[in-house]
Amino acid sequence: MHHFWIAASILAADFARLGEEAVAALQSGADRIHFDVMDHHYVPNLTVGAMGCQALRHYGITAPIDVHLMVKPVDPLVVKFAQAGATHISFHPEASEHIDRTLQLIREQGCQAGLALNPATPLHCLDYLLNRLDFVLLMAVNPGFGGQTFLPNTLHKISQLRQRIDESGFQVQLSVDGGITADNIYSVALAGCEGFIAGSAIFGQPDYRVAIDRLRDQLAPSNLVDGQEHWSNLDE
Ligand code: DX5
Ligand code: ZN
Repeated sequence: MHHFWIAASILAADFARLGEEAVAALQSGADRIHFDVMDHHYVPNLTVGAMGCQALRHYGITAPIDVHLMVKPVDPLVVKFAQAGATHISFHPEASEHIDRTLQLIREQGCQAGLALNPATPLHCLDYLLNRLDFVLLMAVNPGFGGQTFLPNTLHKISQLRQRIDESGFQVQLSVDGGITADNIYSVALAGCEGFIAGSAIFGQPDYRVAIDRLRDQLAPSNLVDGQEHWSNLDE
């Protein structure tokens, strides 16, 4: 049985009450917090830096904080976010001059290392890197904004990546970010994804518990034919 997890993307939360919002999502069943960092350079939008992450830790959040760096350059912020309490850090390969080195840096800082792949970024950019990766964050939207629509091409990409990871023998988790809803999470899981990042599908709803339950119900064993035989068959 594969373990599925749901991360609440605080990009869609009320930034005036970030601590409360994160606690509410976790108490309503989210497994971790997804923290989007945008620099108005690599992506058009601008969010918040390591101080915001540290503030969540000081507020009492003990759950994993999955920091998604949409910034260029990457390396100095890796160190800052690790010190601020990040447990997972991902970045976009296009934003680092030396991807292998950045991945090593994340692990040296004691965090799980991930690469975030844009919709147009081919999977072969993972060649020679699977040994350095703890997870892949596959983008189902172009990065920079919450509330966008899931790009349907992503499903095929997920099953291809699932196959690639399984054949490699490396333990790399596959998560998908952007446009996740209760209507598509089932297909995303079936294609081979283990982690689901949801922003507006949680914080855009009046009741976070109801929203997360709706997502998780789709992942219940009775709904889902589990196992990688099924995953790898999806391509046919
Ligand atoms: C997009 C961010 C996502 C975003 C997802 O650049 O990386 O994490 O918050 O938001 P929804 O779930 O609303 O698409
Ligand atoms: Zn993100």
